[in-house]
Formats: sequence, C-alpha cells, structure tokens
Amino acid sequence: MPAATAATVRDALGAAVDALKAAGVETPRLDAELLLAEATGRDRAELTAAPEAGVEPAAARRFGAMVRRRVAREPVAYILGRKGFRRIELAVDPRVLIPRPETELLVEVALELAPRRALDVGTGSGAVALAVADELPQTDVVATDTSLEALEVAKANRDRLGLGERVRLAQGPIAADERFDLLLANLPYVSEGEWEGLAPELTRFEPRRALVAGVAGLDAIEDLLAALATGRLRTRAVALEVAVGQAPTVAQLVRRAGFDSVETRRDLAGIERVVLGR
Ligand SMILES: C[S@@+](CC[C@H](N)C(=O)[O-])C[C@H]1O[C@@H](n2cnc3c(N)ncnc32)[C@H](O)[C@@H]1O
Repeated sequence: MPAATAATVRDALGAAVDALKAAGVETPRLDAELLLAEATGRDRAELTAAPEAGVEPAAARRFGAMVRRRVAREPVAYILGRKGFRRIELAVDPRVLIPRPETELLVEVALELAPRRALDVGTGSGAVALAVADELPQTDVVATDTSLEALEVAKANRDRLGLGERVRLAQGPIAADERFDLLLANLPYVSEGEWEGLAPELTRFEPRRALVAGVAGLDAIEDLLAALATGRLRTRAVALEVAVGQAPTVAQLVRRAGFDSVETRRDLAGIERVVLGR
C-alpha cells in the first residue's frame, strides 16, 4: 500500500504496483499511473517523464484511498467516475455497465448505415446512443433500458453532452409502435453458469442485471427478436452485440425474425461480436 506521504512519483507508483499485483490486478502499472494522474492532477506522460518529482501529501492521501479501492478490485472507471467511449466521455458508477471497447463496433455499424432514426435497446450509461448522436448529427435516437437507475445515469450523460434534443430516453425493453431504420443493442449475454467465474471487477461491482441473461445468456436477445418477429417493434436493420460463440445462433434467430441479409462483424480481437441483419 502506498505510504500517505510517499516522497516521489517513483516511490508512490512502486508501492502501488506491488499492492495491485498482490491483489491479482491484471494491469497494475497502467492502473497505478491512471490513479496517480487523477490524484495529482498531472497527466500520465508527465508522471513517467519525471519519476523523481514530489507527490504532495494531500495527493498522496487521495492516491492511497484510490489504490485501496482498486486493491478491493473496484474497476478503475468507477474509481475515476468516467470512461471514454468513441469521442465522448461518460460518467459511470455501479448503476451501469462500464462501456467496453468492443461495443464501439455497434457505433461503426451505425456510421455505415447512417440511419435517420435509431433505437438503442439496453442503453446503460447511454454509451451507444450518445456516441451515435455525437457522430451522426442527422440521426435521432431513442434509448431504452429496463433499469430506472441506468436511465438516470444516461440522462445525466445526455444532458452534460448537450444531446437532449436528439436522444430520447424511455423505460422499457422496447419503444413500442415506432419504426426505426436501425436497432442497436448490447444486451446482457452472459449465461447464469458463467457469472461466478467472472473477474471480481464484474461480479463485485458491475450490475448483474446488465450482464446475465438466463441459462444460455440469450434470454434478452431472444425477447427482443421475438418483438421484431411479431411486428411489435419495427426496424429496417438490427445490429446485436453477442458473446464469444453466440454469433451463429443469434444469426439464425435474426434470420427467423425476418431479416434476409445477415452477416457478422469481428472485433479487434477477431471475435465475431456483432450480428447485423437487414
Ligand atoms: C450489457 S449492458 C450494456 C449497456 C450499454 N449499452 C453499453 O454497451 O455500455 C445491458 C443493459 O441492458 C439493460 N437491460 C437488461 N435487460 C433488458 C431488456 N430486456 N430490455 C432493455 N434493457 C435491458 C440493463 O439494465 C443494462 O443497462
């Protein structure tokens, strides 16, 4: 644990890295640098360029408190209270899932299709809806979530980003009786059985309802596709983020829901991550 009065950046980082490694944190150096940057108000490059620079006692205390939270495996994004996604920064806390880099693929699909009206189902922090509205000035977005708590976070993000005129938030799985050009969804897709085996960052801090969807992890996606198949929800195209190995099953479900052309998109790790139906 870093001493409250660590004299230099090097000392503070060294002690934090040791504590984080011992706690099983996967990226101890990066995390320690991010937290020290936050505690001192300096940027990471400045810290690494001047390891002998002093750390003031107040900053050292702030840093110590943050490192203790990280040692308990709280994610860095919750400790900092924010996460970057595409060109925007989102406020995040344990009411919402921390947006993941692979979810940016959904935004790339939206850029390709340039919808006039888009629907983001399961918006969480608002990541997908707000990034789409930010990058596509002609697009109006409806964003839904079953969780009122998540919608509070999404609303605060939307208003801070000044996107209130083009992003409407609604509670519920779907926005009924409306027609969309593109439906985007990163719904829960972890199976019940997988949950316990996930990293403590997820199981101790992220909302279970944002991650787990029944025995096969497909309940939320199946419900959504059922709404599309029965015409309760209408869209010209649908793009769904899926877990490793789910793409073939979901592609079949998307076809059955009435989309003739179905393809999958891979993320940067080469995993089939998005199923796109048109
Ligand atoms: C995996 S998180 C994704 C959040 C956000 N879209 C992102 O990518 O960061 C799933 C979100 O869907 C919401 N959710 C769960 N089941 C849902 C359903 N049936 N309909 C709509 N939202 C749902 C959860 O509350 C959670 O906020």
